[in-house]
Amino acid sequence: MKFFVDTADTTAIAELNDLGMVDGVTTNPSIIAKSGRDILEVTKEICDIVDGPVSAEVVSTDADGMIAEGRKLAKIADNITVKVPLTWDGLKACKVLTSEGTMVNVTLCFSANQALLAAKAGATFISPFIGRLDDINLDGMELIEDIRTVYDNYGFETQILAASIRSANHMSDCAKIGADVATAPPAVIKAMANHVLTDKGLAAFLADIEKANIKIV
Ligand code: E4P
Repeated sequence: MKFFVDTADTTAIAELNDLGMVDGVTTNPSIIAKSGRDILEVTKEICDIVDGPVSAEVVSTDADGMIAEGRKLAKIADNITVKVPLTWDGLKACKVLTSEGTMVNVTLCFSANQALLAAKAGATFISPFIGRLDDINLDGMELIEDIRTVYDNYGFETQILAASIRSANHMSDCAKIGADVATAPPAVIKAMANHVLTDKGLAAFLADIEKANIKIV
């Protein structure tokens, strides 16, 4: 499973990228707003750090506007992925932009039917939102399973980019299901390293190291 980082924090992206943990980056208007930076400037900076796909979301809601913005975003770097919402106009923009050779991430997906439409429109990535379904007492992970089944039934090449990930358990559940990509905030990716038995085991080792005065260098 590929790891995308769901942030515009370039320091956090660079740190994870140096560790080989970053296969791509996703942003959205809320993330850009939180960064307080100009979308074109911060997106370019991210593209300079990361080799993999970097999603930058359009702000228009009509197809023509999304296409114009997508073309402008695509000029930032070769690894730009234009993110469009899963609306009828978004699907139209997806079809046009992918036919021009631009990667497209169709976002705000909450059903298998929506994912099916995105694949038919040639999406490079479909972004089903796990956490926001869980927030309203629906099962976000079940949606990932359903899309995996639908795409595998027909050999669609659109990659499932599991989004709105809120916990380390979401990451392992996505990997077990076979999501192609999971995008998560840096803190969630780092939390994947945590285990109480690791902490306990290390504490015991450290006590023995001190007791026996073990030194290596
Ligand atoms: C990523 O592409 C999504 O925009 C993001 O994962 C949404 O996460 P949230 O539901 O926690 O805002």
